[in-house]
Amino acid sequence: MELKNAVAVITGGASGIGEAVARSLAGKGVRVVIGDMDTKNLERVAGEITAAGGQAAYARCNVTSDDDVATLMDLAIEKFGQLNICVASAGIIKDGLMINLDKETGKVKRAMTTDQFKAVVDVNLVGSFITIREAAIRMANNGYQGLLVPISSVNKVGQTGQLNYSSTKAAIALWPKILVGEFQMRGIQNIRCVAIAPGYVGTPMVKGMNQEALAGILKGVHIGRLIEPAEIADIIAYAAQNEAIDATCLEITGGLISNGLAK
Ligand SMILES: NC(=O)c1ccc[n+]([C@@H]2O[C@H](COP(=O)([O-])OP(=O)(O)OC[C@H]3O[C@@H](n4cnc5c(N)ncnc54)[C@H](O)[C@@H]3O)[C@@H](O)[C@H]2O)c1
Repeated sequence: MELKNAVAVITGGASGIGEAVARSLAGKGVRVVIGDMDTKNLERVAGEITAAGGQAAYARCNVTSDDDVATLMDLAIEKFGQLNICVASAGIIKDGLMINLDKETGKVKRAMTTDQFKAVVDVNLVGSFITIREAAIRMANNGYQGLLVPISSVNKVGQTGQLNYSSTKAAIALWPKILVGEFQMRGIQNIRCVAIAPGYVGTPMVKGMNQEALAGILKGVHIGRLIEPAEIADIIAYAAQNEAIDATCLEITGGLISNGLAK
């Protein structure tokens, strides 16, 4: 795909990986539309992209809402005439053990609530589904050259303390094969799907984690540091340009060889 003048929609574009992807693609001539619940930072990111000579639009969007997501996709087409890249980067964590014992009594003191489980499924899994579906509908109907990018995680293998989060990321890692299988079955050749599974990236999400746990995790990372959001953005730009990358989930982990928690 030619990046210059392509159009990208990025959810979660007000922070972290989504913000870095928006900046990186805009710097390569892609016209970007960012959606997020955080309107203050949406405005900041879009303003900074525009000030740097890029083209950006934004809309407040809750990815769990069909209408919000459809409006975001339509905004891209109305404003910039097409839709080529869709990065579903909106996501949340609500970590905790499923059951936690009281040290004195040895009995269960706390448990993950249903809301704590469902909230993460709603944003990370259902929200990504709505985002990818709404983009795919428009790419298929209009014959746009398209790339769908759902975000998985290295924790798709199952991270202790992330029953809710890891469940969503394991599911998303399957999507490229499932969706491209559908496209192949129906003769849809213009849309590719590549999931990205980052390791630990220096974003507000990770900065909000238990820092002791994070220090333990970093001991198992070969490069010995957090990944920069821009390093994830680079891979997405590369995947957009290289048509041979398709129906796969790419891990970018800095060489994470143990998660530092599960023994
Ligand atoms: N940071 C990491 O180490 C890491 C690793 C693997 C995967 N990921 C995934 O990458 C994605 C981006 O994470 P990040 O680290 O940039 O996080 P982040 O917290 O910096 O950014 C996430 C953004 O999503 C937005 N958001 C949350 N709920 C939303 C909703 N319902 N609708 C719209 N926007 C919503 C937030 O406002 C925020 O701007 C997530 O899916 C995350 O699970 C992150």
